[in-house]
Amino acid sequence: MSNIQTVGIIGAGTMGNGIAQACAVSGIRVVMVDVAQAAVDKGLATVAGSLDRLIKKEKLTAEGKATALGLIQGSTSYDDLKGAQLVIEAATENEGLKVKILQQLDGILAPEVIVATNTSSISITKLAAATQRADRFIGMHFFNPVPMMALVEIIRGLQT
Ligand SMILES: NC(=O)c1ccc[n+]([C@@H]2O[C@H](COP(=O)([O-])OP(=O)(O)OC[C@H]3O[C@@H](n4cnc5c(N)ncnc54)[C@H](O)[C@@H]3O)[C@@H](O)[C@H]2O)c1
Repeated sequence: MSNIQTVGIIGAGTMGNGIAQACAVSGIRVVMVDVAQAAVDKGLATVAGSLDRLIKKEKLTAEGKATALGLIQGSTSYDDLKGAQLVIEAATENEGLKVKILQQLDGILAPEVIVATNTSSISITKLAAATQRADRFIGMHFFNPVPMMALVEIIRGLQT
C-alpha cells in the first residue's frame, strides 16, 4: 500500500490522544476528531502536558514538542479525515456507537484506506462485518499509556 503519512484518529480521549502523540513524535501527521471542540481541546492539552513531561526528563526538546504539536490537527469534522491513509477508531467502548462511526467512515474514506478499531472487548469480526472494507479492517490493541516505538513499528508493518 501507499506510505502512511497521515493517520486519522476518532476520539481524543485517553487512547486517542496517546496514539496521536505517539504518531506525531514519530513525524506522522495526525487528524484527531472528537464530537465536541471541548473534547478535542482537552485531548490536545493532554498531549502538550505529556510532551512537557518528556522535556523535563530530557527525552524531548522544546523544538521537538512544537514540531509534534504542529503535526496534530484537532477537528470535530469527519471530512477532515479524507487525507488519511490509516484511520484508528478510539471512541467510547460501545458497539452501536462504533458501528455507526465505522459506517460513517465508509461514506467518507477511499476504499484503499485501512481502518483500525481500538476496541477492548467488542468482536473485531462483528465490527468488520458492519463495514464495506472487511479486507482492510483490523483490530489494534495498545499498551496504556501508548508506547512510541511499538506504534511506529505497527504502522511501518502496515506499509509493507
Ligand atoms: N490497551 C488498549 O488498546 C486499550 C486500553 C484502554 C481502552 N481501549 C479502548 O480504546 C477506546 C477508547 O478508550 P478511552 O479510554 O480512550 O476512552 P475515553 O472515554 O477516554 O475517550 C473516548 C472519546 O471518544 C469520543 N467520542 C465518542 N463518540 C464519538 C464519535 N462519534 N466520534 C468521535 N469521537 C467520539 C468521546 O468524546 C471521548 O473523548 C475504547 O474502545 C476502549 O475500549 C483500548
